Amino acid sequence: MKIIIINGPNLNLLGKREPTIYGNETFEMYFDTLKQKFQRLELHYFQSNIEGEIIDKLHEVGFDFDGIILNAAAYTHTSVGIGDAVKAIQTPVVEVHISNIHAREEFRHHSFISPNSKGIIVGFGLQGYELAIQSFV
Ligand code: DQA
Repeated sequence: MKIIIINGPNLNLLGKREPTIYGNETFEMYFDTLKQKFQRLELHYFQSNIEGEIIDKLHEVGFDFDGIILNAAAYTHTSVGIGDAVKAIQTPVVEVHISNIHAREEFRHHSFISPNSKGIIVGFGLQGYELAIQSFV
């Protein structure tokens, strides 16, 4: 089973960025833990700060992979293009947010990803990615 985690802008700074909200762990460290836990899966990881690169990656994997876990970060709230890409592809997408976006500023309450997602996991920290993997297996 092929699953990819796609992280959007500023998530390359996990571990350093606003640790009270996003924690102290880098995503690379957490991804190693995930690979240990789910050894029978083919797990991939992609991060970009560039909207078009995220869309290109969704197109690349979206007709071939079994699952996509997408944290589009700030683009969640702004990007019609990423929302359209999620709609255009065939692979199911689970939307993940580390923080509870509904408990934060109003502008974070809207998502262009959610209407076309299989499901949404918010507010469970990095564990949300593991829960998303479990939803596919
Ligand atoms: C985030 C929430 C977004 O509102 C924010 O812009 C992020 C991270 C999260 O995982 O909690 O960069 O997607």
